Amino acid sequence: MANSCKFNACFLLLTLVASSIFTNPAFCDEATQALIDKICRQMEQYGFCNDTFNRNLKGSTADIAALTRIAIDQTLSASKDTHDFVVGLLDKTTDLAEKNALTVCENAYSVVTDCFNQASAAFGQKDYDSMLKVEHQAPRAQASCTTIFNTPPNPPNPVGQRNIHARILIAMSIVSGTMLSSPTLWSISLQD
Ligand SMILES: *[C@@H]1O[C@H](CO)[C@@H](O)[C@H](O)[C@H]1NC(C)=O
Repeated sequence: MANSCKFNACFLLLTLVASSIFTNPAFCDEATQALIDKICRQMEQYGFCNDTFNRNLKGSTADIAALTRIAIDQTLSASKDTHDFVVGLLDKTTDLAEKNALTVCENAYSVVTDCFNQASAAFGQKDYDSMLKVEHQAPRAQASCTTIFNTPPNPPNPVGQRNIHARILIAMSIVSGTMLSSPTLWSISLQD
């Protein structure tokens, strides 16, 4: 009797595990998605934020620290990538207005990369105050690359989509990092 109960419980568990694997291969669990939603509902593009987290999860579950790590890493790689992209364009362009604008962007993304290198190191040391402090310098630097293309003589903007994504990634890092550093502020409201 006891044995068959054990067998049944084990079988039930295996079935549950198997069905969750086979019905939901790439997706995260409900608690993780609730956490992702909590962050991404505050973003200008929910879908980009949700995709970024889901694509970079290691496994189906993540806590706020794991999501913060993803946000920082993705910001850093997007920022480095955009910096390289801008440097490539600078080499080619001969238009003076565009050259000036791209120089502003090159500087913007070196600052963002620098901030997030420091934020990444601070995260590693669980020094969340320093992490947020350097991250808070990034939005303004990043925005300079958006504003410069809206300034006369308005050269064509080759960095538009990258700017939007960088802006969202920085915001994701700040929001998740803020939740990580002050859990009592948001954990209560997560239950409703
Ligand atoms: C968020 O992303 C997951 C995984 O791709 C997807 O299953 C879910 O539908 C998305 N949420 C919304 C509200 O679009």
